[in-house]
Amino acid sequence: MGLRTRWMMMGGAVALFASLAWALDGDALYKEKCVKCHGETGKGDTPTGKSMKVQSIVGDPKVLDASAEELVKAIRTNKKHKEPVKKMSDEELEAVVPVIKRLAGAK
Ligand code: HEC
Repeated sequence: MGLRTRWMMMGGAVALFASLAWALDGDALYKEKCVKCHGETGKGDTPTGKSMKVQSIVGDPKVLDASAEELVKAIRTNKKHKEPVKKMSDEELEAVVPVIKRLAGAK
C-alpha cells in the first residue's frame, strides 16, 4: 500500500473518531435528552420538570456521591425515565454523567 493511501486512511480514521467524540458530547446529549425535565441548571424548573415533580440535581448527595457506574444504572433504572432515556447506550449515559455531576456541584 502506498504512502498516500495510508495517509488518506489515517485521515478517514481521524474524521471518524472526531465524529464519534462529537456524537458523545455530554452537554449536547444532556440538552437533547434531559433538559426538558431537568432544566439547563439541573434544578428541574421547566414546565415538564415541575409537572413531573423533578427534584433538583443541584447539591443532590445521591448524584455527588455515586460513582459513574452507579449513576448510569440509576438513570437507566429510574421508574420515571421513559424509553428515550432508557434506550440510551452505556457510552451515552457515561458521557452525561460528568454533566450532571457538574450541575450537582461536584468539583
Ligand atoms: C420525562 C422527564 C425526564 C427526562 C427526559 C429525564 N429525567 Fe431524570 N428524572 C425525572 C424524574 C421525574 C425523576 C424522579 C424524581 C427525581 O428524583 O427528581 C428523575 C430522576 C433522575 C435522577 C435521580 C436523582 C436522584 O437523586 O435520585 C437522575 C440522576 C436523573 N434523573 C438524570 C437524568 C438524565 C441524565 C437524563 C437524560 C439522559 C434524564 N434524567 C432525563 C424525569 C426525567
